[in-house]
Amino acid sequence: MRILGIETSCDETAAAVVEDGVRVLSNVVASQYELHAEYGGVVPEIASRAHAERIMPVLRAAVEEAGLGWSNIDAVAVGHRPGLIGSLLVGVAAGKALAWSMGRPLIGVDHLHAHLYAAAMSGEGEAQECYPALGLVVSGGHTAIYLCESPTKLERLGGTIDDAIGEAFDKVAAILGLGHPGGPAIDRLAGEPDADDRAFEFPVSRLGADSLDFSFSGLKTSVLYAVRGQPRARSEGGGFTRDHTALTPGQRRDVAASFQRAACRAVMLKLGRAHEAMTARGAGVRSILVGGGVSANTRLRRELEVLGDELGLAVLMPPMELCVDNAAMIAALAHRVFQDRGADDLTLTPRPTTAC
Ligand code: KG4
Ligand code: ZN
Repeated sequence: MRILGIETSCDETAAAVVEDGVRVLSNVVASQYELHAEYGGVVPEIASRAHAERIMPVLRAAVEEAGLGWSNIDAVAVGHRPGLIGSLLVGVAAGKALAWSMGRPLIGVDHLHAHLYAAAMSGEGEAQECYPALGLVVSGGHTAIYLCESPTKLERLGGTIDDAIGEAFDKVAAILGLGHPGGPAIDRLAGEPDADDRAFEFPVSRLGADSLDFSFSGLKTSVLYAVRGQPRARSEGGGFTRDHTALTPGQRRDVAASFQRAACRAVMLKLGRAHEAMTARGAGVRSILVGGGVSANTRLRRELEVLGDELGLAVLMPPMELCVDNAAMIAALAHRVFQDRGADDLTLTPRPTTAC
């Protein structure tokens, strides 16, 4: 079964063809980085307009690169939640129109579940053996932990109550005067040989003793004050007296390394707690599935491997092209969704927030 997948939840316009849920025949991604760079973050209206312009050429390219014609497509899948509503609407409208005009089934897929399935499918035939698994999504828009009983049966255990981890990387990069997206720049700076990750004691948010939720806004504010100093009182005109240009290159590097250490610590802490809670529940977790753009982070990958060894769990991370937003993960999971619960109809609705 060849499924054409569509992904437009944020700022990547993507389409892919995947055969039988495992063989990626094409994987086309049109990124919008350059359109949002000057704003230091994704501007929803600009993202929706770019999707509207790019969706048809991207869909055509995915079918052509797969070496197929439209008549060879057996079903159409679309990421319909969660995401920016204007962005989701473009993909869902395109998916419905294609499915209806070709007389093929339409399959709605949860974007976050797809990120986690990308990790499972990268396990080379181990896709079945890795379940039950803990799922970790770390991206520019999401930070969440799941219990994955199967590719389609997931329970959300916790998530961020404010910023996503990737957003925190991007904002800290902006505070340090680095470009957008900031994650790779922080990763590079923090990885320089003399970077001291203990130069600054930034806070690691624990929330309640049993909480599996995340909070990154306190960490971000601490970095802001470390770089710019305490803000002036309003009676004295407010604002900051300095910015990142007051830091030496060594200090910038140390801020990046100390921030990265705190951000990774928060993830390991909550994964450890989640594992404990699932063990108490007798869930029989066997692996950790990791997805989302921040899983490219060198330190995070290293710490995940160490945690996996400590807990006796396999850690499955997809190759980079399947870590970031893409439509291959949508088309691949759609195959399982179709087997487990069949197709959707044309009432499929985009949902901006995660429903489960
Ligand atoms: O999954 P993704 O491509 O898009 C979303 O669904 O959000 O993730 C993008 C995020 C950005 O915040 C970017 O800064 C971050 O992933 N990122 C990284 C690294 N590479 C990308 N963060 C830390 N270290 C990296 N090496
Ligand atoms: Zn994503």
